[in-house]
Amino acid sequence: MNMPPRIRKLALAAHVGISVGWIGAVAAYMALDVAVATNQDPQALRGAYAGMELIARNVIVPLALGSLISGVLMAWGTKWGLFRHYWVVISLLLTTIATAVLLVETQTISNFADVAANPATGDDDLRALGNTLAHSVGGMLVLVFILVLNMYKPKGMTRYGWRKEHEQRRMRQSERAMTLS
Ligand code: HEM
Repeated sequence: MNMPPRIRKLALAAHVGISVGWIGAVAAYMALDVAVATNQDPQALRGAYAGMELIARNVIVPLALGSLISGVLMAWGTKWGLFRHYWVVISLLLTTIATAVLLVETQTISNFADVAANPATGDDDLRALGNTLAHSVGGMLVLVFILVLNMYKPKGMTRYGWRKEHEQRRMRQSERAMTLS
């Protein structure tokens, strides 16, 4: 199914806004992650863990789900299709994996924030809590890769894509033959 051009533009604006917003939110989260990795001050650590949880739960998770859903709608509603082109399949796969890892990671971040918010947690325990830098840096690299892939849209069709293309061409030819006869 192909969206009408005006709807497609609006949907694309939403998809790009949400997806690039996701990258921006991860950048903000990473700033706090670096603060946690490099700071020893208990007050700063408590504040940073609380901020990380708020950004992850209330901004990054909704944007990740929004990017996945809007991406699937863009693929379904345009000539690209969901399984016709390798770049779309790779985007779908990587975004799904990134979102799944994020949902699991959000639990870990919540646990960090709960421990940090507890007044009974001592300064040494607070400093030993740890960070999620490996995940946030890895996640950022994956998101930037998807961004570049979606901008370039490299050629390359799946077997399913070729079959659909042949079917459509054959249908167009028989329609033309019918109108001529
Ligand atoms: C981090 C995740 C994602 C990012 C950063 C992202 C980014 C973008 C950007 C910047 C564009 C505009 C490119 C252009 O037309 O010039 C785009 C288009 C598109 N994206 Fe995504 N995307 C993401 C996830 C997905 C997913 C998961 C899918 C599909 C399952 C998808 C499918 C599409 C399709 C089909 C278009 C072309 C729409 C059209 O031509 O009207 N994207 N994406």
